Amino acid sequence: MKLELNANVQDIRQFPFDKKYDVILAIQSLVFMKKSEFKTIISKIKESLNVGGVTMVSSFTTADASYTQFAQKREPVEEDTFYSEGSKQYWNFLEKDELKNYFADEKFKILSYEEFTKEDNPHEGTPYPHQHGIARIAVELIK
Ligand SMILES: C[S@@+](CC[C@H](N)C(=O)[O-])C[C@H]1O[C@@H](n2cnc3c(N)ncnc32)[C@H](O)[C@@H]1O
Repeated sequence: MKLELNANVQDIRQFPFDKKYDVILAIQSLVFMKKSEFKTIISKIKESLNVGGVTMVSSFTTADASYTQFAQKREPVEEDTFYSEGSKQYWNFLEKDELKNYFADEKFKILSYEEFTKEDNPHEGTPYPHQHGIARIAVELIK
């Protein structure tokens, strides 16, 4: 089978969402914006699936160690959103069940949903062992 691939690198907030897709993946990439922008992108993803199409989304939750660190140091700029001077971007965090609730609609079938914490090794930006809080979902548009 010959597949044609169009690759495009851009800020998802500027992406036109003017087509329908069979698969939309947003894996740990919608963290870095305000919660209001996150919600807008989720709405656009929901509107941009073909029937039978699947989206997978994962993002940090308020159980993430960085949420606690932000919350101890500063006020949120909006709902569960902080501005990071270090990375010069916003970070937003999901509340319990929040990601699942965005797809609580009879048109969507939730294929899997998990919220969990996971230890991470030191890496660039966080040079010590730390805990991530993650919510992830796979959803199919069924009608
Ligand atoms: C933690 S990495 C995850 C990369 C990959 N999805 C993975 O799971 O390994 C976050 C990615 O989100 C991208 N990203 C951050 N803000 C974005 C935005 N506004 N629009 C599109 N991509 C963005 C970054 O460029 C980076 O590649």
